[in-house]
Amino acid sequence: MPTHLILLAAGQGTRMMSDSPKVLHEVGNRPLFAHALAAADAIEVGQKVLVAGHGIAAVRRAAQAVDPAVTVVEQAEQLGTAHAVLQARAALDGAGGDALVLYGDTPFITGDTLQRMADARAQGFAVVVLGFEAADPARYGRLVMAGDRLERIVEFKDATADERAITLCNSGVVAADAALLMQLAAAVGNDNAAGEYYLTDIVALAAARGLTATAVTCPEAETMGVNSRADLAAAEAVFQSRRRAEVMENGVTLTDPSTVWLSADTVIGRDATVEQNVVFGPGVTVESGARIRAFSHLEGAHVGADAIVGPYARLRPGAELGNGARVGNFVEIKKAELGEGAKVNHLSYVGDARVGAGTNIGAGTITCNYDGVNKHHTEIGARAFIGSNTMLVAPVTVGDEAMTATGSVVTTDVPDGALAVARARQSNRAGYARRLMERFRAIKARQKEQG
Ligand code: UD1
Ligand code: MG
Repeated sequence: MPTHLILLAAGQGTRMMSDSPKVLHEVGNRPLFAHALAAADAIEVGQKVLVAGHGIAAVRRAAQAVDPAVTVVEQAEQLGTAHAVLQARAALDGAGGDALVLYGDTPFITGDTLQRMADARAQGFAVVVLGFEAADPARYGRLVMAGDRLERIVEFKDATADERAITLCNSGVVAADAALLMQLAAAVGNDNAAGEYYLTDIVALAAARGLTATAVTCPEAETMGVNSRADLAAAEAVFQSRRRAEVMENGVTLTDPSTVWLSADTVIGRDATVEQNVVFGPGVTVESGARIRAFSHLEGAHVGADAIVGPYARLRPGAELGNGARVGNFVEIKKAELGEGAKVNHLSYVGDARVGAGTNIGAGTITCNYDGVNKHHTEIGARAFIGSNTMLVAPVTVGDEAMTATGSVVTTDVPDGALAVARARQSNRAGYARRLMERFRAIKARQKEQG
């Protein structure tokens, strides 16, 4: 039987001081709610229901983009976590199997933890709650245990002094049979200090029906929630160190790990090397053996095996580097394909272009792709040689094994094997430079005399 996800994300997140809903803020260039969804990949997931309230239209758009299988349901008024869970009732009606309640602002729960919760369910506990030993229990709900049985959860606001002394806290994550969860959530009242429908009350309600509950524990770090910009920055730091460790475990050398910034979807092949201060935006794949040199910035790019990028290179979306290609310092590549072994080593812009295998693009070359209204394509063949400081005014084609003379402004196609010379012819005027300098010095001297 699959486990259905109920992802709570209706709260406003007031402390973010933001116009957009909290769960859309990003860690590793991926919205917070998507991290919780990804954690559940470790278990067999059935339906995915996201409960949204504040900014639901934006949340729905983002959810569609991340995973079209997510159903977004509305909790118009936030009356409490039990009330939020109930909003998923219609979507899960008759679905069978378990339901797992996760939180859109809690990105670090691991698949391993969710698997251990599923194991506890399999042992026959009707309700399984995820708890943690809190360094500072603060205002968390407390788990009241009797042996391995969880008797009830008491919210801080409603707890006695003895209960507040308990350090085993509630993460909020719960697993139970989906139909039972809905029955219990529907039975929850709001007679408490906050006047809210507490999901935590389902534990005592289950006990009253003769059903057992237990707690599975995880490290506190997994339950870290994001409530403020400072939390968001702290979450980013945690995420980055996790991802750096992961890529190194996969056989990638990071010369100075703490200076490399990765995205949730960054893929780097074995034996690739990433030097210091490299930023991976979303959508980057680097194949085996490639080297990304210091201070490079990549997004939406694919770097072929054994290619060398940087130092100080910028790969923008649609950059597609063939095996062994080279992109050097102060070079920007956008929506352009470089064939195998092609080189763009210095100070160039290559956009909306295709460059054939083995072609060399000289320093300072620019594909002039934009006329102020439309973008145009530049096609360069294989084994061509583009002279330094060539302006390729697109749309334009340069053939295989063709050359362009240094400083050319190329506006018409260059056939295979041809040399295009498109610059003014040089003329030398004998002795003229010296005479000119004498005249300038005389002018300066006169000006000085006149004060
Ligand atoms: C909740 C738990 C508490 C636990 C803590 C862990 C309850 C009653 N208490 O408290 O035991 O220690 O989380 O962080 O469950 N939400 C909705 N709709 C609502 C209310 C909340 O979607 O009507 C969402 C919020 O967006 C948030 C999450 O549920 O992501 C938790 O809600 P919050 O109000 O922060 O609960 P806590 O008081 O922190
Ligand atoms: Mg909270």
